[in-house]
Amino acid sequence: MKNAELIFVPAPAMGHLISMVELAKTLISRDESLSVTICIIKFPYDMGVTSYVESLSNNPTPRLSTLEIPPSDSESYKSQSHHTVFYNFMKSHVTNVRDQVVAMTRADQSTRIAAFILDIFAVSMIDMAKELNIPSYVYSTSGADYLGILLHLQAMKDYENKDMGEYKNPDAELSVPYFRNQVPAKVLPAMCLDQGGSEITLLWGRKFRETKGLIVNTFVELEAYVVESLMADDRIPPVYSVGPNLNLSSRGQDSDEAADILKWLDEKPLSSVVFLCFGTFGGFPEDQVKEIALALEHSGHPFLWSLRPVKKEGHLSKYTNLDDILPPGFLERTSGTGKIIGWAPQLAVLSHRAVGGFVSHCGWNSILESVWFGVPMATWPSYAEQQLNAFEMVSELGLAVDICMDYAHHGFSKCELIVEAEIIKSKINEVMKDGSDIRKRVAEIKGKSRAAVAENGSSYVNLGRLIEDILAT
Ligand SMILES: *[C@@H]1O[C@H](CO)[C@@H](O)[C@H](O)[C@H]1NC(C)=O
Ligand SMILES: *[C@@H]1O[C@H](CO)[C@@H](O)[C@H](O)[C@H]1NC(C)=O
Repeated sequence: MKNAELIFVPAPAMGHLISMVELAKTLISRDESLSVTICIIKFPYDMGVTSYVESLSNNPTPRLSTLEIPPSDSESYKSQSHHTVFYNFMKSHVTNVRDQVVAMTRADQSTRIAAFILDIFAVSMIDMAKELNIPSYVYSTSGADYLGILLHLQAMKDYENKDMGEYKNPDAELSVPYFRNQVPAKVLPAMCLDQGGSEITLLWGRKFRETKGLIVNTFVELEAYVVESLMADDRIPPVYSVGPNLNLSSRGQDSDEAADILKWLDEKPLSSVVFLCFGTFGGFPEDQVKEIALALEHSGHPFLWSLRPVKKEGHLSKYTNLDDILPPGFLERTSGTGKIIGWAPQLAVLSHRAVGGFVSHCGWNSILESVWFGVPMATWPSYAEQQLNAFEMVSELGLAVDICMDYAHHGFSKCELIVEAEIIKSKINEVMKDGSDIRKRVAEIKGKSRAAVAENGSSYVNLGRLIEDILAT
């Protein structure tokens, strides 16, 4: 049999790219007849992608290659709302991806392209793939919860003619067949409700249904209800939960910065430290920073706090003078118990025995990582589908403490409300509590996450089913 080549099209954001590369590595390791080519589309603001791609070619994996896609001439994506920028940016590259892929097959006649594996932001490639007679699968680097909501919103509109505008009422609730509880409209991704974004939401739902399968970075034991009900819905292509796909080989522990952080943790007692980290765009307004500081000081727990300014246009920045934004005297008073850092080697920290709780923005990768290491979370989402993830973790799964499930940064910088120190403090105490039900459930799901990807585990078996389906074409 000819070797089967898979073309991966990730969105140019690190969380998406790393998750896709990990999926590629897992597929390749499972079947020797598979090769993967990862299309690299670069966003004008380089968000770490260039150095990551370099690190891939410096540590080559057999049968895994990258294919640089020339930039598109079209800049029309820039004039659209920030919710639609990524989608339209990917769309402007459809022709360039096609030309590169066609050139690749001409150059090597023995190549048989078996499938496109597309990021959800790349569903605009599906029609092009059809023209080339190649089937598409979508890979969601987020959870099945998000996939379920997107499919449901589109079904409501297309099959029941119900407009998404109805959910702008902050008290509205939705009955979604993939969720056990009513879903509060205020945890829906903001994008689904604004004008350009709701069009893309519809398009997503429609395009997902045209694929050969939906691959999700989750495992059935974590999101059992949503995964099983999606699989039982015959209007949806097969769903393959194949996660967690995490980059565990390198935990970012090698830099001097990381060594210093880990040394500090080494001196703290088992499960005593609360870790706060809010992802790539996770800055807070200064008033909120002060409330968090007061909460930490009064909670009495040692803390490791990744504190960063609101990120601007792809630039990672750092506070130059922490005294300017923290309460007077805070740094002296907490010098024995707390450590404030900028960038955090998140995996290395979560895997450290001293860490007992994680205050998180609920990006999907962060959720999978904290589950993998059995660290209970307190949820503080800010954008994209993070509010929905927080709702799922707290209400559907009972795996997290809710700090502020519907917290919203509008335009990533302004927020609607300030969460007060007293509330933050009590939630931190709750998540750090010894022997709580949440802590027990998280310990259980930690074991299940490892079993899922081990030989004969649920995700292992699903990946085998996926490979069979890919090779059957
Ligand atoms: C992921 O793992 C690879 C090794 O397979 C490593 O070289 C790379 O630096 C890791 N990337 C990140 C972002 O952790
Ligand atoms: C997985 O299943 C196969 C077939 O049933 C069996 O031969 C193998 O020993 C199992 N492996 C593990 C680690 O349980």
